[in-house]
Amino acid sequence: MIKLDLAGVTPFLDKSEWQKTEPVAAAHEELVTKYGIDCGYTSWLNLPETYNRNEFKRIKAAAEQIRSESDVLLVIGVGGSYLGTRAALELLRSPNYNLSAKHTPNVYFVGNNLSAEHINEIGSLLRNKNFSINVVSKSGGTLEPAIAFRIFKDFLESRYGDIGARSRIYVTTDRAKGALRQWAEKEGFTSFVIPDKIGGRFSVLTAAGLLPMAVAGIDIDQVLAGAFDAMKTYTEDTSFHNAAWQYASVRQSLYRQGQNIEVLACFEPAFRYMGEWWKQLFGESEGKGHGGIFPASVDFSADLHSMGQYLQDGARTLMETVVSFETFRRDIKIPALAEDFDGLNYLAGRGVEGINQAAKRATVKAHIDGGIPVTEIILPDMNETAFGWLTYFFQLSCGLSALMQGVNPFDQPGVEDYKRNMFKLLGRPE
Ligand code: PA5
Repeated sequence: MIKLDLAGVTPFLDKSEWQKTEPVAAAHEELVTKYGIDCGYTSWLNLPETYNRNEFKRIKAAAEQIRSESDVLLVIGVGGSYLGTRAALELLRSPNYNLSAKHTPNVYFVGNNLSAEHINEIGSLLRNKNFSINVVSKSGGTLEPAIAFRIFKDFLESRYGDIGARSRIYVTTDRAKGALRQWAEKEGFTSFVIPDKIGGRFSVLTAAGLLPMAVAGIDIDQVLAGAFDAMKTYTEDTSFHNAAWQYASVRQSLYRQGQNIEVLACFEPAFRYMGEWWKQLFGESEGKGHGGIFPASVDFSADLHSMGQYLQDGARTLMETVVSFETFRRDIKIPALAEDFDGLNYLAGRGVEGINQAAKRATVKAHIDGGIPVTEIILPDMNETAFGWLTYFFQLSCGLSALMQGVNPFDQPGVEDYKRNMFKLLGRPE
């Protein structure tokens, strides 16, 4: 499914160094044994095979229920409880999903910031609309979604009464721990589980992502089928042909050479939130002990007009990963003009997609020539199986790469510091 084109990166690498299989094989072993068995947090490794079929049926039934009674699904969550869902929605439906004509509910995201402006705006969009809430939080206690849940639960109750509201609340959280789980049990909200050994940023293929995806009409069977194929491929192939092994090895070799920023690029605007999801996955997993590759993302060709200069000519501490698709969902031809005012008649009759692909080839070549190592990830289609495959590929590569760097991919001690300060300022009781 994925093709990894390393032609633009190998000239920058010492072959005898980056092609060593032992470090990545050892990282894979450590992922499966130490982190899988001893510390946990690796159930995502075999999730596409072991996921709970009964829960999966319940997700589909809940999605059907939401679609039948709501114009809007409000997804409340932050970080790993939000970014993957939004990435799937934008990539597989559209960044303009809410504006398009469709038979599925609009999906609004809240609880991913502390902006009263944003909360109020979403509130006003709900006027005269039937809506349901899916609150997603693994810990069940994160401040942003907790505040949004209080506010929108209030909205829901004032619209439908306590009992009516209760049946429109869908909770996705830990199996046993956390305030949200207790609340769901007490009030009888429909609830789903983010399995114990799956942390937030590795949870997109659990109910955290699957319920809102299904509501938006995304084929979640195909998402899991893609992830399953990726799992089989990357866990059975223990040779250096394994694309996840190669990607992890390339990143870590470049990092050791001083390339400490990775820019993820795509020429499809629908991919933008995949970049956001990817940044959290790699940034929170690897940015530790004052080290790690800083993940950035760009949306081409738009960002060629803003970041293009830096990429081409700025400090040479970058590596770039370009994702592209071999087929496109639709194309549009450039019209001819009787008088060639803009000088574009040489393009008349050609599809915009062909021009987009030429822009990609030209950019990749210019960046390589300009001293940026470029890895290309090529997927056949922009569809559900590709999404499932790609998320699994990135999760596994991320786990391997972090372990090769010598850090625990699954904790995030650094995010506690600002919280301590904030809670102190807010006067939270000890
Ligand atoms: O990866 C992680 O665990 C975190 O970044 C979480 O996704 C994020 O903090 C949201 O946490 P929760 O789902 O517990 O509300």
